[in-house]
Amino acid sequence: MKRTIDVPATVDLGIGKRARVQADGIDFALFNVDGRTYAIDDSCPHNGGSLGGGKLDGRMVQCPAHGMRFDLATGCMRGGGLAVRNYPVEVVEGRIRIVLGDPGTNGA
Ligand code: FES
Repeated sequence: MKRTIDVPATVDLGIGKRARVQADGIDFALFNVDGRTYAIDDSCPHNGGSLGGGKLDGRMVQCPAHGMRFDLATGCMRGGGLAVRNYPVEVVEGRIRIVLGDPGTNGA
């Protein structure tokens, strides 16, 4: 059975916006790129930099700590290497919901 987290209605994720949300013991970084919402762990897999504050280039986010770049859609670095955990996002009746999946599916 999948678990989900409803993003609070007070979080503004309009086009071009980003937000950090903490829930279920996880720090999420959320981005709206061209109307599509992405959710990843806020913590960079390299050394914990906050990806929610990273520079965006399309759907690539650059960690502000040491500059590694991750694809928001896959969590992967371009060309391979480290990957940040990413999460499916659903929009239900205008509300954003982060899908954690079945325990063991995405580890959340
Ligand atoms: S902590 Fe993100 S690149 Fe080093």
